[in-house]
Amino acid sequence: MNILSLSSLALALFCAVPGHLASPGTQPDAHHPALYSRSVLPAASYSVAFSKKVPRRKAKVDALAALRGSVVSRNAYKTVPLAGSNLDTDYLVNVTIGGQNFSLIIDSGSSDTWVPQAGFSCFDLTGSPVPQTTCNFGSTGFNPNSSKTFELYQNVSFNQTYGTSEYVAGPIALETVSIGALEVSRQVVPIPNVAAWTGDGVLSGVLGLAFPNVTSLFNTSDPTTASIKNRILYDPFFFTAVKQNKVEHPYFSIALNRPTAEQAENDLYTPNLGLLAFGGIAPVPVIHNTSVTVPVLAYPPTIAESKRQFFWYTLPIDSYNFPGSENIPEARNASLGNDTTVLDTGTAVNLVPAPVAAGYAAAFGPPAELITVSGVTLYAAQCNATVPQFSVTIGGQAFSMDPRDQLVPFGNDTCVLGTQAQGGPLIASDFHLLGDSFLRNVVATLNPIDREITLTQRVPY
Ligand SMILES: *[C@@H]1O[C@H](CO)[C@@H](O)[C@H](O)[C@H]1NC(C)=O
Ligand SMILES: *[C@@H]1O[C@H](CO)[C@@H](O)[C@H](O)[C@H]1NC(C)=O
Ligand SMILES: *[C@@H]1O[C@H](CO)[C@@H](O)[C@H](O)[C@H]1NC(C)=O
Ligand SMILES: *[C@@H]1O[C@H](CO)[C@@H](O)[C@H](O)[C@H]1NC(C)=O
Ligand SMILES: *[C@@H]1O[C@H](CO)[C@@H](O)[C@H](O)[C@H]1NC(C)=O
Ligand SMILES: *[C@@H]1O[C@H](CO)[C@@H](O)[C@H](O)[C@H]1NC(C)=O
Ligand SMILES: *[C@@H]1O[C@H](CO)[C@@H](O)[C@H](O)[C@H]1NC(C)=O
Ligand SMILES: *[C@@H]1O[C@H](CO)[C@@H](O)[C@H](O)[C@H]1NC(C)=O
Ligand SMILES: *[C@@H]1O[C@H](CO)[C@@H](O)[C@H](O)[C@H]1NC(C)=O
Ligand SMILES: *[C@@H]1O[C@H](CO)[C@@H](O)[C@H](O)[C@H]1NC(C)=O
Ligand SMILES: *[C@@H]1O[C@H](CO)[C@@H](O)[C@H](O)[C@H]1NC(C)=O
Ligand SMILES: *[C@@H]1O[C@H](CO)[C@@H](O)[C@H](O)[C@H]1NC(C)=O
Repeated sequence: MNILSLSSLALALFCAVPGHLASPGTQPDAHHPALYSRSVLPAASYSVAFSKKVPRRKAKVDALAALRGSVVSRNAYKTVPLAGSNLDTDYLVNVTIGGQNFSLIIDSGSSDTWVPQAGFSCFDLTGSPVPQTTCNFGSTGFNPNSSKTFELYQNVSFNQTYGTSEYVAGPIALETVSIGALEVSRQVVPIPNVAAWTGDGVLSGVLGLAFPNVTSLFNTSDPTTASIKNRILYDPFFFTAVKQNKVEHPYFSIALNRPTAEQAENDLYTPNLGLLAFGGIAPVPVIHNTSVTVPVLAYPPTIAESKRQFFWYTLPIDSYNFPGSENIPEARNASLGNDTTVLDTGTAVNLVPAPVAAGYAAAFGPPAELITVSGVTLYAAQCNATVPQFSVTIGGQAFSMDPRDQLVPFGNDTCVLGTQAQGGPLIASDFHLLGDSFLRNVVATLNPIDREITLTQRVPY
């Protein structure tokens, strides 16, 4: 059985970018070599296991596309599609909110942690009411009446519209949220009572791990009047944990495991596919002298430094290395391709500058070729193709990727490459992305407080 049928291909993943920041301007910032350091971080005091569900249906794919949206309102924000494919991408974690358990997607690319409210109204994308089951969340939703810790956050609301035209809106709770042994109190948790959603029957919302500046809380009890003008920034879950002194160190760490081919083909839900650790490095075997720390870069690089903001885990790339890369300027010196590269747990593949992806595709034996499915163009190869070595140099350290992460089964003996081109009609031209295919090879330790990212190469597994 194939993991994905070609018809289940995504339209696109989306990402919110404030419109006033999206205009082109000055040249990208130079790298900051002085800020790089090598360090070995202490083991985490808390860690929880990941599970993973393999996407099989278009519904899931659309939902995932929506998750990249985080768009407050289309008037206030410009929707910039971020990525053009979505393969096998959900890493889920169990989260308890007010004593109720939910399976949430771990998203380092957004910041709101939300779950639908029990009794919510479901709509189709044209705004017509439909039965609640049509929204297809993995639970019936959060019930404030069954929580001992529920507090309504008065006079504010949540409103997110996604690039797919899906939306969620409604009230906001202040709630106790726990993940494994880490518990925070009075966390802002949107509990939308209105949803136009195409769910997958498993995930029930999002655990947003990015910065406060991509949150979506508005100073109005009527979500229809939400706008950038009445937005109030708040502390996402991990920021709250730090403020409440619940973690030893102000970072969390992600180790995504590679599913076996059998799991990828057969399991609808695969438990234990990695670790999310708070306050330390995820406890998986690593090659210690590969550890490197780089600064989180503010966005976008094309405007004056003083006007940039911190939204996501954006890091500087030195180079992409593979046979033939020495002849590709954008591979040799990644800053030529505008080094706005986001570490994103919500996207399956890497999206690199187009000349880099083309050069890498050409190095496959036989060379990978572009295929177009449902309007999305991707590099694809036969699944038995020879995979050239590939590494990404960050902070002077080359992080290599396992060949298995470069061929993603796609049906009919076709595999799509784990490293694809950024650009094209559905993908923002000023973003690059290191997704799950890269992240399975490293432990990524993200420190949003000191704004640092530490990467360490994992022992091959
Ligand atoms: C596989 O190829 C056949 C014949 O070309 C085609 O009809 C079918 O739709 C393909 N299946 C997938 C999943 O792409
Ligand atoms: C999450 O909870 C469900 C239901 O309690 C359980 O079956 C599953 O194994 C848990 N997953 C993880 C990763 O702990
Ligand atoms: C929720 O998850 C916690 C921790 O895994 C578990 O102890 C508890 O029994 C679960 N509660 C329900 C109602 O499933
Ligand atoms: C919670 O209780 C209120 C008041 O009794 C009721 O109106 C509401 O429907 C309940 N909500 C749910 C989700 O059960
Ligand atoms: C919410 O708004 C109402 C009506 O404007 C006001 O009376 C109340 O004090 C507000 N509550 C908070 C907590 O600001
Ligand atoms: C929210 O709006 C009220 C007026 O409606 C204003 O008094 C209050 O300062 C605003 N709060 C914030 C945090 O902007
Ligand atoms: C979200 O806010 C926009 C205005 O920014 C409004 O047009 C829309 O109706 C709101 N959505 C919901 C579901 O309230
Ligand atoms: C890391 O250690 C290995 C084996 O101990 C060694 O071969 C390698 O050169 C070291 N790398 C660096 C960057 O120090
Ligand atoms: C967050 O956004 C505000 C404007 O809304 C800006 O003043 C501030 O500098 C930003 N903070 C960060 C850390 O990017
Ligand atoms: C890489 O390109 C940038 C932008 O053109 C340039 O400033 C920098 O000096 C180059 N670095 C190297 C090592 O060639
Ligand atoms: C880099 O950014 C500039 C300004 O936005 C843009 O004109 C240029 O095409 C970008 N270069 C690449 C390789 O994406
Ligand atoms: C690779 O797979 C294709 C299609 O299944 C087959 O025709 C070809 O012979 C295989 N090549 C090798 C080297 O196994």
